[in-house]
Amino acid sequence: MNRPIAVLGGTGPEGYGLALRLAQAGEAIIIGSRDAKRAQDAAAKIKEKIGPAAQVSGAENSAACSAADLLVLTIPFEGHATLLKQLKPAIRPGSIVIDTTVPLAASVGGRASRTLGVWQGSAAQQTAELVPKGVTVVAALQNASAELLNADGPVDCDVLVCSDDPSAIQTVRTLAAKIPGVRAIDGGKLENARILEQITALLIGLNIRHKAHTGIRFTGLPPAAYEIK
Ligand SMILES: NC(=O)c1ccc[n+]([C@@H]2O[C@H](COP(=O)([O-])OP(=O)(O)OC[C@H]3O[C@@H](n4cnc5c(N)ncnc54)[C@H](OP(=O)(O)O)[C@@H]3O)[C@@H](O)[C@H]2O)c1
Repeated sequence: MNRPIAVLGGTGPEGYGLALRLAQAGEAIIIGSRDAKRAQDAAAKIKEKIGPAAQVSGAENSAACSAADLLVLTIPFEGHATLLKQLKPAIRPGSIVIDTTVPLAASVGGRASRTLGVWQGSAAQQTAELVPKGVTVVAALQNASAELLNADGPVDCDVLVCSDDPSAIQTVRTLAAKIPGVRAIDGGKLENARILEQITALLIGLNIRHKAHTGIRFTGLPPAAYEIK
């Protein structure tokens, strides 16, 4: 069996869509939730869609964390810091945390097309402050729309992968590139997460204005930028 990936908050549209796509690609997934039953129900739904061979289970968030060393954070910004503090003892040393969080102003009653200022610079940098020492944070997938992840076709979006650890960038690029349509690109340091998070607010504004499900594509990069070794 592949090493499992825990998708925390995987009962929501973003986490569920990612869990579905990664399970379709043959990854072993543990859906995490504050409620184990809700996680198990989401896992059962994915199995029903993909078939019994799908390696998907559900667990309470802490249990999911302690069973995996690749964690995907897909919870709203308002619960971000509190959940990370709760999970800290359960996160295994050497784990990689992939943070998809966007600090939307909607978290505090504002517009979804605006972001909040985060003291550390971005939600992902806040995560880096809150995880145990020796755990690597990678910012990615903030611009991949849940609508597209949950639809049947390819996900028409480039995914920039940002971290201060180049080997973690490669691990997450390899994973993200398993989603049909996604080109996963090394996006540099974790501090670039602040730009990725802002882009999502812009995409939400475009979606509202044009009644669309937008993604981003970069031009002009050499083919090597998309290669997965
Ligand atoms: N939706 C998109 O298109 C999209 C695109 C890119 C990035 N993102 C980012 O992905 C994250 C998840 O988005 P989403 O639309 O899936 O969000 P969501 O539906 O609001 O929440 C996802 C899950 O998080 C858990 N949750 C909710 N409030 C929580 C809290 N206060 N503390 C801990 N857990 C909580 C819930 O699971 P349980 O109740 O089962 O615990 C919920 O099902 C967000 O940070 C968002 O910015 C979303």
